[in-house]
Amino acid sequence: MSVSKQSVLKSPIGIFDSGIGGLTVASAIHNLLPNETLIYFGDTAHLPYGDKSAHAIRAYSVAISDYLLSKKCKMIVIACNTASSIAYETVKQHVGNKAIVVNVIDPVVASVVKKTKAGKVGVIGTKATIKTDAYGSRIKALKPELEVASLATPLLAPMIEEGFFNNNISRTIIHSYLSKNKLKDINSLILACTHYPLIKSEIKSFFPEHMLVVDSAEIVAGEVGRVLARKKLLNTGSKNPHHFYVSDYTSSFEKSTRLFFKGKIKLEHYALWEL
Ligand code: DGL
Repeated sequence: MSVSKQSVLKSPIGIFDSGIGGLTVASAIHNLLPNETLIYFGDTAHLPYGDKSAHAIRAYSVAISDYLLSKKCKMIVIACNTASSIAYETVKQHVGNKAIVVNVIDPVVASVVKKTKAGKVGVIGTKATIKTDAYGSRIKALKPELEVASLATPLLAPMIEEGFFNNNISRTIIHSYLSKNKLKDINSLILACTHYPLIKSEIKSFFPEHMLVVDSAEIVAGEVGRVLARKKLLNTGSKNPHHFYVSDYTSSFEKSTRLFFKGKIKLEHYALWEL
């Protein structure tokens, strides 16, 4: 194998999110593909993306992608549903053939459509994600007979960021969203926000046992592995240390990373933006 091909295999996988929610995806990729080096970028200076304009989300996503390209990433994983639903095409076009771009929505939709024969699929996510109907339109395009009910649940991501889960407050908020009429009679629920795996068990406990509750972490990790294998870009040799950058550093973020990424990690500050 040529030296340059060898160095591409060793190139990192870039992963980004508005903050640290995408660490749930990074953690799943790390577990599934332990030979891969990860470069994570959490745009904590602009968190949450869920309330931002499409213009701002696209601009942030392109700037972060440029940073990941400067780190020679072979792949960029948009580990944020909000950025995936609004900026995926823009990022893909911008990156061109410099790296593979993966969003978190398409692999989840493919998985749900495969597993759900009929009935009503619920989707919960940020206001911005729900407004785009990114899930509903993709599901309908693949299986028009499925009904889709999408509900914005804007309190959930900040609640999780603040460490409120598995307690009375989180239970009350989660139950108040999930008992909305819109989600009545669903037979599967997509957690369309990379923060939500942390409250998956609380969500599951609201529903009967047979309810299919789907999050993006493992599904996206599987897709990353399949795409790299297909392109013969999996690293079979030794890896370099992972790096985790945030655009605004606080020690509380550093503490919270332990919730999202199993194991302790050290955040590095990189000022992509002038604050
Ligand atoms: N992690 C982001 C997502 O998946 C949600 C948080 C935010 O609003 O920035 O949509």
